[in-house]
Amino acid sequence: MCGIVGYIGKASAVPVLVEGLKKLEYRGYDSAGLAVLENSHVEIIKTKGKMKVLEEKINGSLNGCRIGIGHTRWATHGRPSDINSHPHKDCSGTIAVVHNGIIENYQSLKEWLQEIGHRFVSETDTEVLPHLIEEFYNKTNDLLKAIKMTIAKIEGSYAVVVLSRDYPGEIFAARKDSPLIVGLGDGENFFASDIPAILNHTRRIYILDDGDIARISETEVDVYDSNGNKKVKEETYVEWDAEAAEKGGYDHFMLKEIHEQPEAVRKTLSGRIDAFTGKVNLKEISLTKEYLEGIRNIAIVACGTASYAGLVGKYAIEKLTRIPVMWDIASEFRYRDPLVDEKTLMIVISQSGETADTLAALREAKKKGSRVLAITNVVGSSISREADEVLYTLAGPEIAVASTKAYVTQLIAMYLLAYDIACKLGKITEGEVVQGVYALTKLSEQIKEVLKCEASIKEWAQEISRWEDVYFLGRGIDYNVAQEGQLKLKEISYIHAEALAAGEMKHGTIALIEEGTPVVALATQDFLFDKMLSNIQEVQARGARVTALTFEGNTEMEKSAERVIYIPKTLPITAPVLSVVPLQLLAYYAAVARGSDVDMPRNLAKSVTVE
Ligand code: G6P
Repeated sequence: MCGIVGYIGKASAVPVLVEGLKKLEYRGYDSAGLAVLENSHVEIIKTKGKMKVLEEKINGSLNGCRIGIGHTRWATHGRPSDINSHPHKDCSGTIAVVHNGIIENYQSLKEWLQEIGHRFVSETDTEVLPHLIEEFYNKTNDLLKAIKMTIAKIEGSYAVVVLSRDYPGEIFAARKDSPLIVGLGDGENFFASDIPAILNHTRRIYILDDGDIARISETEVDVYDSNGNKKVKEETYVEWDAEAAEKGGYDHFMLKEIHEQPEAVRKTLSGRIDAFTGKVNLKEISLTKEYLEGIRNIAIVACGTASYAGLVGKYAIEKLTRIPVMWDIASEFRYRDPLVDEKTLMIVISQSGETADTLAALREAKKKGSRVLAITNVVGSSISREADEVLYTLAGPEIAVASTKAYVTQLIAMYLLAYDIACKLGKITEGEVVQGVYALTKLSEQIKEVLKCEASIKEWAQEISRWEDVYFLGRGIDYNVAQEGQLKLKEISYIHAEALAAGEMKHGTIALIEEGTPVVALATQDFLFDKMLSNIQEVQARGARVTALTFEGNTEMEKSAERVIYIPKTLPITAPVLSVVPLQLLAYYAAVARGSDVDMPRNLAKSVTVE
């Protein structure tokens, strides 16, 4: 998704902007650009393509500039092209703007601006911004006022940063529904859409709120609320390390993050289990027994990988608490008049905490009176700030677009919640709680065991990489892991993959099985094991080559499947944390074998901040 960096200070702005934008590459983008002030005019360099193309275009020029703004674009309105790249400028070429988000009423604004003489060059929604600012600046001769007037006109979401020839010592910004922070330096200040962009320079930040307008100079930062009143902002100190966001010796962030899962699981559990009682203790959330007794249902809403973690969560909560759980993909939720009200506990799951559809679903549920609990990885994210309760996954920054460690920590958070609720409501015995919690505490070491199968998965992935279609089968909670497995394979290797509830296979998809078709069958649920064996035989009889994934000891599987991958024994309910790992490695090595851009797969974005 789009990224923003702004810089003013004593250093040469271009290298700071380029370095910052590179830190945001993981968000996914298709073009990049920057604007600086040079000898009293706004100089813009922008291009379709990756940062290295932009660097070639810059070619060491513009070295003396001390102020500038930069952007990586992920196309929404208008295809990726040089012209559509940001920054965009006004007719006079003196105002440059970068923008994340979508201006929903841009068509009518553009028509109006064209009628009164503004000339547009791009197909983007963003271009209305510099023209609106120009229009109002010409009337007021005050850039801050012009930005305020512009914001009053636009509908949609934005993090917008503005550079003007007439303000050579200042940069302006505003945000609504799209993240933006101010980085506080010593004799220099920054804007950024994401913390890693500025972490090499400062750890002190202000998180801008919706409606905030900010102005930075070398030495000052002013933030105003939507009424134009100056705000006193609370400084946040970023604890995590820039190092944590580097590859640390692995070929790709994704592989590094797969290997970080034992640690991520351990951290997400730590402090949340009472060593004395052996029970879950979620101090940060306040779901009391009385409140839980009063709810009628639970709704789980998320997008992508987080939604698949939500499916496992639905299974776990229903199984342990017997409370009905509805599950929705966030982009569908608010358009189907969902049955949620003040007797619903809404759980939203989002790694980034910024996914537009998930945020909108959260707001919809709150409007209907539901209490919202967010499971997110990013402190200070929009979702974390708008939810009533937050349970953080402590996965650390996840850089690869394909989510891995965030997924397993989301599972852990769901289990903690399920055991906590079940325990408070007395739906499970003390013994069951202790057994469940014990299983959770063993998972970190067990993931390390699973990771030992990396070399054999790599071999298997070589085979898979030669196929164009792969099918994943599972029953119950295994089906939910199969869904995550097929998504991983699809998004980074571009192999078509489909997950099916194994019993459903014969109602259509089996028609696609032919000699050699690869099938991945998950069979970790003991009570469904025999059913899975039958389903495996059904596809094998049509020529499929089946690789099965099951618990150690289930050697009977070797009679049915061509290849068997064993995972350590855990409770059936916690199996997804282990069974997903070979599927992540499969996707990773298949993508590597096919030469894909693993960390930044085509057309995908890490954080989807538009609807
Ligand atoms: C994008 C990412 C996925 C992620 C989904 C939801 O599609 O590519 O990896 O699962 O968004 O993101 P969130 O940050 O809300 O978990």
